Amino acid sequence: MKTESKTLKSLFKSYLTVKDSYKGGKGVIKKEGQKTYKLSSNENPLGTSSLAINAIKEATKDLHLYPDTTDFRLREALEVYYNRELTKDQFICAASGSEIIDLTIRAFVKEGDEVIVSTPCFVPYKMFSRWSGANVIDVPLLENNYSLNIEGILNVVTEKTRIVFLTSPNNPTGSYISKEIFESLMVQLPTNIVVVFDEVYWHFAEAEDYTTAQSYISRFVNLIAINSFSKTYGLASVRVGYAYMNEEVAAYLRQICKPFLITKLSLEGAIASLKDEVFIQKTVETIHSEKKFLKEEFNKLGIQFYPTQANFYLITPPIPSNEFVQFLAEEGIAVRPVDNFGATGKVRITIGIREANIALIKALNKLKLISLN
Ligand SMILES: Cc1ncc(COP(=O)(O)O)c(C=O)c1O
Repeated sequence: MKTESKTLKSLFKSYLTVKDSYKGGKGVIKKEGQKTYKLSSNENPLGTSSLAINAIKEATKDLHLYPDTTDFRLREALEVYYNRELTKDQFICAASGSEIIDLTIRAFVKEGDEVIVSTPCFVPYKMFSRWSGANVIDVPLLENNYSLNIEGILNVVTEKTRIVFLTSPNNPTGSYISKEIFESLMVQLPTNIVVVFDEVYWHFAEAEDYTTAQSYISRFVNLIAINSFSKTYGLASVRVGYAYMNEEVAAYLRQICKPFLITKLSLEGAIASLKDEVFIQKTVETIHSEKKFLKEEFNKLGIQFYPTQANFYLITPPIPSNEFVQFLAEEGIAVRPVDNFGATGKVRITIGIREANIALIKALNKLKLISLN
């Protein structure tokens, strides 16, 4: 038996045995009578669109039936959402943005290929690339303001480079890629390298020179934009996401989309949420005003934070990050240490509703008082 297990072990793919599993944002330590706030996973603080909830409730009547074989109806809804500036054939949908990241890597990367990331970044880019046997080449964001190092990226391109991951707004830094920087990189990169432009936080971006990938899709065949229903639409739990790109590339990726993979609840929720303009607008307005509120409060407290275009702040905590996270957890507030994203010693805090933000500021004041004594 032992020999058999050894033989089997020798068949394990070495790149699948690396231990870099993704850990989601933690909940809080619940104490009796204490209100708790989860500010660790960039979820929508307003909850979910009521249109989506109603559609999901309605869909529960059909739980015994298989869902749509494909994402066709959701793609039609996306075409309408994008004012028919993109066609349904340019979209692919899957059970989350993360799944689309995985799908894209599986479609283009084979063992020994290279994938470029810029840390600090969303962990799955590296994790899923390694699962395909790729070598991950890191060109870190520039130190002072976490902007993209274009020259660094162009310098590490080889004939083995398959994908460059770009994220704007970026998780966990909140920084973004300006139109100018993006265009400059796109025109200099060889067109046989796929650029995955992850824009899952795009609704929250306010910078004038911010851009999504939409206006570049017809120009760059190698561009794939990743989106998710987990953030603005408040559907993190049902797992649904989408990407848009050139039609031919979409047709290629669609070939490896598994049938029946998106649940009926996810499909109906996503389709309905796209129509809920009021909810989307309210979400964005809330994030913008609470972002301003937190900025002012952080400044008063002397908390060091980075400017953000997303629904979270990256901060340098006043005490070691593990102690800081633990302290807030005791106060009923979950925040996220992001060492494994490549932001050593930093902490990411999701922007919440006013009540959650007040609780956070109160806890930070308490920490300040304790530190002073
Ligand atoms: C930058 C970025 N991309 C993609 C995702 C994936 O979102 P999901 O898998 O929930 O659709 C996330 C989630 O946190 C993210 O932060």
